[in-house]
Amino acid sequence: MALTSSNIEMRLTGGSSNTDPNLSLGGNVSTTKVNPSSLHNLFRRITESEASSGVTLYRCVAIKNNASEIMRNVVFYMVLDTKSADDQALYSFAQVGKNAVETAIANEFTTPTGSNIDFIAALKRTAGLKLGDLAAGDFRCVWLRVTVNPGAETFADNFFRVRAEVNPSTTSEPSVPSPNPDTGSNFSMAALADMSCNSEFQSNFNKIKGRNTGFIIFGGDNAYKSGSQCWLDITSSYRSKSGTAFGNHDVDESESQPETKNALKNAYGYGATYNKKTFNNVGIVFLESGENQSVSDSVGSNQYNFIESSLKSYSENPAIEWIIVCNHYNIYGPPSDHGNNTGGRDRYDPLFDKYGVDIVITGHNHNMWQSKLIKYNSGSPGNPTIIGTDPNYSYSKAADNHGKMWIGAGAGGRALDSIDSNPSYIAWSNGSNYGYVFFEFSNSGKKVTIRFYTNSNNLLKTATITHT
Ligand SMILES: [Fe+2]
Repeated sequence: MALTSSNIEMRLTGGSSNTDPNLSLGGNVSTTKVNPSSLHNLFRRITESEASSGVTLYRCVAIKNNASEIMRNVVFYMVLDTKSADDQALYSFAQVGKNAVETAIANEFTTPTGSNIDFIAALKRTAGLKLGDLAAGDFRCVWLRVTVNPGAETFADNFFRVRAEVNPSTTSEPSVPSPNPDTGSNFSMAALADMSCNSEFQSNFNKIKGRNTGFIIFGGDNAYKSGSQCWLDITSSYRSKSGTAFGNHDVDESESQPETKNALKNAYGYGATYNKKTFNNVGIVFLESGENQSVSDSVGSNQYNFIESSLKSYSENPAIEWIIVCNHYNIYGPPSDHGNNTGGRDRYDPLFDKYGVDIVITGHNHNMWQSKLIKYNSGSPGNPTIIGTDPNYSYSKAADNHGKMWIGAGAGGRALDSIDSNPSYIAWSNGSNYGYVFFEFSNSGKKVTIRFYTNSNNLLKTATITHT
């Protein structure tokens, strides 16, 4: 007899007779199934005080085969994230395997622990939890988590959706629509810099992978001393889906050069430490400007001419909607460990304005920040001209001098640098969390939502840019 969707059940945990979703916190599998069609069928309503202070809640459910035949290649994954930008749903394997009872947590706020527990937010089947085969009556537990950020706006009828699927074939995976039609997202990118090869970086990288990110911009100071092979090994699966800037520790700062620089160049097939790359409708230019740089960035240098011609060609290409520049050294940014690169600013920011650059990503200071939309101010370059109001910006990409957003993505893993204060052109900063920047392109590629996440996937800040 053929399997039907009713054969695969999602059941509460919390004891065999538990009927309360709020007590589905691990322990024996209940006979009660999660009601697929009602709101608050698993997570309760968030209170106003919780929305104000922020809160994280957990639930444990069991995926169970109630058919009389085996289910092959069961996969659990999320098909729709929460609708509010102020919160996020995630999911994870339980610590225990098939037909084992997950240890219950003390209450809904308690983080479940164990080496197999790692919450992800992937919205594709291929990145979901592979639960393996379930014979008749078998079950396997999974954790779900909802995190609400401090200061969350009231959001009625907010929900997310998860799915367990069975593939009757033992040899092939069903095709996955990309992008997922439920989310409206077209494609995604991520950025991070100042990584090295430590566990904080690996957490960042795992979270980026968990989102099925389409392309990664590595912002330089990737590897540090003796770490280039380690970093290259970890990131190898993303080599063709990433590009990199070169930082001072990659090229010329007592880090066993030229081995690190050459290892990166060889891995990426780069002929120089400045480059360009397109991904969908995004043109990305990698610049090397700052102290200890390995090539000249002066006006008329090979690098300068390459950068200008690349920006010009992107600006004239109707297939390119967005222009992103990545330069390791901070050119703008809040006061921190390293001062801003004023020479590079005066050489390149006028070019960025001229050719309609939308976003510039930097690192070097080991923290995260986001500027408002700004443009070069020749009369007082340290005080750029602010355009628009955070967090939602819009302009025609054809407009002259529409301004651009600067982003600090230096919390990739290397020891953090604190931030002293925010100049008026800085909308937000964070010097206390490791994390990454996530870019989600929607509206047929004409809108980008920029989200700053910690490497535990807590959302810190959201901004949008829309091309009108
Ligand atoms: Fe650096």
